[in-house]
Amino acid sequence: MDPATNLILVGPMGAGKTCVGERLAGQCGLRLLDLDHEIERDAGASVTQIFEHEGEAGFRARESAMLAELLRGDGIVLATGGGAVLDANNRALLRGRGFVVHLHASVEQQLQRLAFDDTRPLLARPDREDVLHDLAAARAPWYAEVADLVFDTAGLGADAAATQLAALL
Ligand code: S3P
Repeated sequence: MDPATNLILVGPMGAGKTCVGERLAGQCGLRLLDLDHEIERDAGASVTQIFEHEGEAGFRARESAMLAELLRGDGIVLATGGGAVLDANNRALLRGRGFVVHLHASVEQQLQRLAFDDTRPLLARPDREDVLHDLAAARAPWYAEVADLVFDTAGLGADAAATQLAALL
């Protein structure tokens, strides 16, 4: 990976993008930016509140705008949201503005990691497992389209994942 470029983490909810990104940024001496956190800071509202007041379309518009803003510069580790790959312009930007790692997680792992989480509006329903399977199937081509590297987080904590991933970069 070119050290002057950005390191971008994509993948589904609960794959560990933020946790692994934090550690990677520390190891690589780069700054971590988290797309959802930046959207929340800018909006003065949580992702859940944005979904409630502006709908998913409103959130996606904010997501695209913030992605473009954050990827203007170089030298960051960027943890994206799981749906950042939905938009074709976003995918072109991701491919063009950094080295993209797809952090892969199985639905079983996602369910474990997100068991007590109530911050993901798409999962605020009883059939979480079905939703995660549907999202994984629908989004697999988009993750494949943008990824320079696929890294499976199976059985790894954030520290081990970051260390193993850093060795591959
Ligand atoms: C979403 C993933 C979330 C957040 C929003 C929508 C998605 O980010 O952007 O709830 O569409 O998969 P994480 O992947 O960080 O959970």
